[in-house]
Amino acid sequence: MANEVERDEVTGVETTGHEWDGIKELNNPLPRWWVLVFYATIAFSVLWWILYPSWPTLTGYWKGVLGSNQRLDLDRRLEEARTAQARWLEKIAELDTAAVAADPELLAFAMRGGEVVFKENCAACHGLGGAGQFNFPSLADDDWLWGGTLEEIEYTIRHGIRFAEDPETRDSQMPAFGADEILDRQQIEDVVQYVLSLSGRVEDAAAAARGEEIFAEQCAACHGVDGRGVAEIGAPDLADGIWLYGGEPKDIRAQIAQPRHGVMPGWEGRLGDEFVKMVTIYVHNLGGGE
Ligand code: HEC
Ligand code: HEC
Repeated sequence: MANEVERDEVTGVETTGHEWDGIKELNNPLPRWWVLVFYATIAFSVLWWILYPSWPTLTGYWKGVLGSNQRLDLDRRLEEARTAQARWLEKIAELDTAAVAADPELLAFAMRGGEVVFKENCAACHGLGGAGQFNFPSLADDDWLWGGTLEEIEYTIRHGIRFAEDPETRDSQMPAFGADEILDRQQIEDVVQYVLSLSGRVEDAAAAARGEEIFAEQCAACHGVDGRGVAEIGAPDLADGIWLYGGEPKDIRAQIAQPRHGVMPGWEGRLGDEFVKMVTIYVHNLGGGE
């Protein structure tokens, strides 16, 4: 084939010589703007190679004239964050929990830290945000088994509840009135009726009246004469309609006959002192703190 340039008859533009079914490809030049952008990107990439770490070399890699190093940057930022955090933690270690809660900056730090501690260690039992679930008390309401002041909450968290490994743990045992035959079947039914009456659900008024006497003898020492609960021994309020183990007659009957005893581990030995304080403040602020 001759190397002669062929021109399109209609436009007068050179063709590339490619042809499909009689259609020929025109050899139009690239648009000028496109060519300029193309050269600019090449120039930019060369400049970038020079300024920043880029090519491998025999001994390592080209470090770039700007000396940029993202790994060192990250290390530096982490180090800064750690020192900032250590400063806060040191202050929290020095102060008691009430003083931490009284300082707005420390309070904000403790709330964020406490939330993380809670999610990692407590939410499995108490639910996210302390919402509670069956057999595990809500920590977000103002109904407290063992008391809802900062001090009481901190003690509960440090030493746990019926936690055998800590001699200072919170402890109390409701007697097994059925299993140990302290009350007979009829007496248990009567006292169940009385407990129901405390939340306005009397089914059998005569039984409830008999139950009231039994309650005064057997139960009031722990649950209070009015059944309103006693926080020093973790005896729940039986009149507020909030139940740890369920409020149906069968649940109440079961608890009287053969009681359950909730166990919570103590956290003093597991979480650092600062973290116990932070999670205490977080729980106190969930909504029910006294
Ligand atoms: C293994 C399950 C479990 C874990 C984990 C757990 N708890 Fe508990 N917690 C319980 C149980 C059960 C009770 C109720 C005990 C009872 O019946 O008195 C309780 C009670 C409490 C109470 C007392 C509530 C009241 O009404 O007085 C507080 C406060 C508390 N937990 C905080 C925490 C915090 C904070 C954490 C995490 C550091 C945590 N708990 C982790 C099971 C758990
Ligand atoms: C020695 C103290 C003590 C005595 C006496 C006692 N209780 Fe309790 N009771 C408790 C404690 C503590 C709990 C909470 C157990 C737990 O947290 O696991 C409890 C829990 C209950 C509950 C479950 C409440 C809920 O929210 O689910 C009921 C119902 C109850 N008691 C009824 C009675 C009745 C009725 C009597 C008398 C026949 C009685 N108790 C006697 C200490 C006592």
